[in-house]
Amino acid sequence: MAEGGRGAASVASGMKELEAQVKTCQLCRLAKTRTNAVPGEGNIGAEVMFIGEGPGYHEDKQGRPFVGAAGQFLNELLQIAGLSRESVYIANVVKCRPPNNRDPEPDEKAACAPYLERQIALINPRVIVTLGRHSMAGFFPGERISQIHGTASVVDGRLCVAMYHPAAGLHQASLADIIRADFRKLPIYLEQAQLMASPPKEVVREQVAQAESARESVIHREETAVVLEAAAEPVIELKDQAQVAVVAEAPAVYSLAPEPEQPAVEQAAPEAVPVMEKAKAPTRARKPRATKEEYKQLSFFDL
Ligand code: URA
Ligand code: SF4
Repeated sequence: MAEGGRGAASVASGMKELEAQVKTCQLCRLAKTRTNAVPGEGNIGAEVMFIGEGPGYHEDKQGRPFVGAAGQFLNELLQIAGLSRESVYIANVVKCRPPNNRDPEPDEKAACAPYLERQIALINPRVIVTLGRHSMAGFFPGERISQIHGTASVVDGRLCVAMYHPAAGLHQASLADIIRADFRKLPIYLEQAQLMASPPKEVVREQVAQAESARESVIHREETAVVLEAAAEPVIELKDQAQVAVVAEAPAVYSLAPEPEQPAVEQAAPEAVPVMEKAKAPTRARKPRATKEEYKQLSFFDL
């Protein structure tokens, strides 16, 4: 079913491309401390997709999701639900391990979100199972896991089930049986989901495209910021900070990924035009002031 009218081959190649992007991704600070990024794994035609929080120690070492102690418990839970590990797809909210297993930061989750959105759109599962609070928050904003664990809701036309994170059952023995009981309900949810219409093919294609363009816009902003950082030190020290914002307005010159609708700017501007001259161009509209720190924040994670 997951093809939803798309060829399995195009889903496979879309996922391969995504995996390659994740493995070399530098879009947030977690890239600096990871050993291996963990894109996710499983059946790209899965009816059920599980979404954890982020890789832990063993996942980071192996580049695979849920291979440590929590993964062992997840395997047991899958069995209880009558699902083989090979039949499902398993991904995480962030693809790189937060150091010392700390919670992922909001900006890290935002930077990584387009990957997960694309995975969901590609796989198009009937049921999404969130594992733990961070995963739940993306589908059930404002809810508490202690209130909604084991329950399902339709989110964006898809049945989503909120589960405790398997690690919670390892840390708190009293939760383990509660989690097992919640997983016993999964076959019923899957049956319910099979009765619901899956999102039409065009909608799914649009979702894939949107997630990809969200990632590109993060990359574009990062590249712009990096080039500005390298080139604009003297400009940023100017008292008239409006000029800093004007520099940011010229992506075709200062970014590695020019906007397609502005090709003329790149041709018109000799490569050697100093940042200052560009900033002084009289025809450009002035933007509100932004400090260097504010600009950096906006540039990296303003999704
Ligand atoms: N915990 C998670 O949330 N994800 C993993 O992949 C492993 C442990
Ligand atoms: Fe890793 Fe995701 Fe951050 Fe990229 S955005 S470095 S894949 S956690």
